[in-house]
Amino acid sequence: MAKYIGVDLGTVNIKVYVSPRGIVLQEPSVVAISVKEGKIVAIGDEAREMVGRNPESIEVARPLQDGVIADYVVTEAMLRYFLNRVCGRFRLFKPVVMITVPIGVTTVESRAVRDAALQAGAKEAHLIAEPLAAALGAGLPISTPTGNMVVDIGGGTSEAAIISLNDVVVAGSVRVGGNRIDQAIQAYIRRKYNLHVGEPTAEEIKIAIGSAVPTDEVQSLEVKGRDQMTGLPRTIRISSSEVTEAMAEPLSEIVAMVKGVLEKTPPELASDIVDRGMVLTGGGALLRNIDRLLTQETGVPCFVAENPMTCVGIGAGKALENFHIMKRAMVLQ
Ligand SMILES: Nc1ncnc2c1ncn2[C@@H]1O[C@H](COP(=O)(O)OP(=O)(O)OP(=O)(O)O)[C@@H](O)[C@H]1O
Ligand SMILES: [Mg+2]
Repeated sequence: MAKYIGVDLGTVNIKVYVSPRGIVLQEPSVVAISVKEGKIVAIGDEAREMVGRNPESIEVARPLQDGVIADYVVTEAMLRYFLNRVCGRFRLFKPVVMITVPIGVTTVESRAVRDAALQAGAKEAHLIAEPLAAALGAGLPISTPTGNMVVDIGGGTSEAAIISLNDVVVAGSVRVGGNRIDQAIQAYIRRKYNLHVGEPTAEEIKIAIGSAVPTDEVQSLEVKGRDQMTGLPRTIRISSSEVTEAMAEPLSEIVAMVKGVLEKTPPELASDIVDRGMVLTGGGALLRNIDRLLTQETGVPCFVAENPMTCVGIGAGKALENFHIMKRAMVLQ
């Protein structure tokens, strides 16, 4: 029986942790709705496959934007669907849920998350800051009086935090993540080749050949899209160095945010960070050479966490398992 559940309510993916089993579910936070009846047609993986391929009668929506709820009704429906899936529809006990929220959320935004979880069938809903959960999920020794730094690069937002004694000491965030990187690749191809490619294609290019810094070994990929002039399908070949160039602007915004956090860090903790380095989590940590870029730009060693995409969800679950210690750091007491 699933009683304690951690939820990473991400802009791109939702991850669910069931105590003590671990991550049991990871699916896109996408919902397909029939426009006429306003009914939900598909949620998660199934809905994600419809992106860019849907007729007008079906709307494919991402109810979360930049890590916060953009569409309350759809978020609640999505949460209910995933909670039902891990708890069973006719459960005897309502689960206690821990949900992650980004750094810098407003009280109104966090209340909306809590209410959505309660409406979706949770008995209690607690909220934890994403980077704190990320650090916990990455297995950093956050209870000690030493500085630990984590940088979470998600789809909608990137966040960095210095953590000591089970709480965030300094943090920063920027509304730039994988989505903005995909859009930058899209814009680059449109500018340079007069070719329109969809966002899913831009993401595929990033994952296949993208590198945060130039590499010696240049790869290339065939890309199909629609010619802006003729309106007809056309194929081009794009190289990894072009993708690096296309991604430079959004990546520089992430670097600037990380530098900003380091600048605000008290000296004792800063010296710990120089010794221990920073840990990268989130799907963006999987971008090739992102660790090298951050090390190069900040002078601080970087390490990519093991399974970076699931760290936040695992941390949310672990925060519930250690609730007596983590309670102090909860958002909205
Ligand atoms: N191998 C990869 N290389 C580069 N980027 C990747 C890779 N795999 C996944 N991503 C990117 O990671 C992002 C999703 O990461 P994640 O699931 O951590 O985001 P999220 O938690 O949903 O978003 P947020 O934390 O901003 O709300 C997507 O933008 C995706 O393109
Ligand atoms: Mg995230």
